[in-house]
This record gives sequence, structure tokens and C-alpha cells, in this order.
Amino acid sequence: MMAVVMQLVSFLSILVSITVCVDVFKMVGSSVQLDLQKNFDKSFDLVWLFNRSNNIVKYNGKPPTRVFRSYRDRVEFNEETHSLTLKNLQKSDSGLYEAEAIDEMKEIVARYQLYVLDPVEKPVLNGSPQQSNDACNVTLTCEAQKLSITSHCYNDTCDIKEEKMAGDAFLSLYVSNSFIICNHSNPVSWKNTTMEMEEVKQVCLPEGVSMHTYCTG
Ligand SMILES: *[C@@H]1O[C@H](CO)[C@@H](O)[C@H](O)[C@H]1NC(C)=O
Ligand SMILES: *[C@@H]1O[C@H](CO)[C@@H](O)[C@H](O)[C@H]1NC(C)=O
Ligand SMILES: *[C@@H]1O[C@H](CO)[C@@H](O)[C@H](O)[C@H]1NC(C)=O
Ligand SMILES: *[C@@H]1O[C@H](CO)[C@@H](O)[C@H](O)[C@H]1NC(C)=O
Ligand SMILES: *[C@@H]1O[C@H](CO)[C@@H](O)[C@H](O)[C@H]1NC(C)=O
Repeated sequence: MMAVVMQLVSFLSILVSITVCVDVFKMVGSSVQLDLQKNFDKSFDLVWLFNRSNNIVKYNGKPPTRVFRSYRDRVEFNEETHSLTLKNLQKSDSGLYEAEAIDEMKEIVARYQLYVLDPVEKPVLNGSPQQSNDACNVTLTCEAQKLSITSHCYNDTCDIKEEKMAGDAFLSLYVSNSFIICNHSNPVSWKNTTMEMEEVKQVCLPEGVSMHTYCTG
């Protein structure tokens, strides 16, 4: 208990003494507002920079703010709050954003790691009866981009709950109420494809009813 408290105390003291890097996830085409995380003495100069080397804006305490060439028309700097807004984000905008207060010494007053991502694609969910012996055995395949999950339903019981990850993308296959749900997500979006359990049960019906593949979507 004591050790936990001590850890918490040291963690909190780190929080106050340094500017923590905050992860921010945004969709391509959207905007993001980055605020200062620390108090800033208005007599200092302020520079927002990208990946430690590219200057975005420079403010020396009075307008006009200098906006550097490759950022003209796509950033807004708030001279009151000193926050920076980046518009129409592209994947190439992913990286580290920092605000530096400059006087005799430099101090980092904001630090963000920005990830600009495309929305995910809708996953494809297929169910097909196992060809061989038993007609009641259904194979389910849930696929999206680089990810794929295969699972089985026997009789009308699907005992599935599976998840897979690749980079920022996440794929999960599960049963909820009378639906089989395949969900593809990343930190900025998600899309699902569903199939009714009824469709799986059909496979177990007596001869004469034949189903091979069915896709929803
Ligand atoms: C910025 O830095 C990130 C790593 O933080 C890197 O992945 C990215 O390629 C860099 N972007 C540019 C344009 O240099
Ligand atoms: C259903 O078929 C799959 C693939 O052939 C097999 O691995 C699984 O054991 C079968 N399940 C049952 C209950 O027979
Ligand atoms: C599947 O259903 C059949 C017919 O209802 C039954 O005989 C069999 O025991 C069931 N199998 C399993 C693994 O539940
Ligand atoms: C899909 O996954 C996302 C992210 O985990 C979650 O927010 C969303 O509720 C899920 N949707 C469904 C239908 O499972
Ligand atoms: C799956 O997504 C559709 C829209 O694509 C939505 O209508 C449906 O409610 C979602 N299913 C679940 C279980 O959230």
C-alpha cells in the first residue's frame, strides 16, 4: 500500500515538473486545437513547432503573428490563449507538436503527439457450412484490410469472442442477442457488419434447404 502511495506521489510530482506528451488521434480532413499545457509568461516569445525542426508560428507578444510559409492558410493561432489550430489534417501532419516559450532560457509549454488516420473500412463477414461431414458446422470469417478472424458455429451455438489487432486497427467478432457482429475499428472510427443467428440456424435445417454462402453488407 505504502509503495503504491509513494509511486503515486512520485508520478504526480513528475506530472507537475515536466510537460507530459499527450497522444491525440484525428481523422484525415478534420481539425485539431492544441492548447498550452503550462502557464506562459506573456513577455516571452512563443514558437509552435513540428517534429522539433519545422517552425509553424512565432509570436513575440504582439500581433501580427508570424505564420511560416508551409503553414499559411491552414493554421490559426489564438493570440489570447496561444492555442494552435491545424485544419484539414493530412497523414503527413502526424508527428510531434511542441510550443516553446523563449526568453533567456527555453521552456516547453505544450507537447502533443498527433496521429492522423483514415477511417476504417467496413469489414466483410461470411458464413459457410463446413463441406465435409456435418452440415451444422458453420465457418465464419470476418475480414478487414490486414486483419482476419475465423470461427465456428456448431448446431446453432456460436461460442465466439475474438479480437485481433494490427497497428492502430482492431477487429472483433462476437455474438450479441441474435446477431453475429464483426466490428472493425481504430482510434478515430468504427464500422460493423452483422449477420442474424437465424442464418446460421438455417444450415442445420433438414435436407432440401441449402445455403452456401451468405454475406451481409
Ligand atoms: C515527424 O515525426 C514522426 C515521428 O514522431 C515521423 O513519423 C514523421 O514521419 C515525421 N514527419 C515529417 C514530415 O518529418
Ligand atoms: C467444425 O469444423 C472445423 C473445421 O473443419 C473443425 O475445426 C471443428 O472442430 C468442427 N467443429 C465441430 C464441433 O465439429
Ligand atoms: C447438435 O444437434 C443434434 C440434433 O439436435 C444433437 O443430436 C447433437 O448432440 C448436437 N451436438 C452438439 C455438439 O451440441
Ligand atoms: C466497435 O468498436 C469500437 C471501438 O472499440 C466501439 O466504440 C464500438 O462501440 C464497437 N461497436 C460495436 C457494434 O461493437
Ligand atoms: C452496425 O452498423 C450499422 C450501420 O452501419 C448500425 O445501423 C448498426 O446499429 C450497427 N450494429 C450495432 C450492433 O451497433
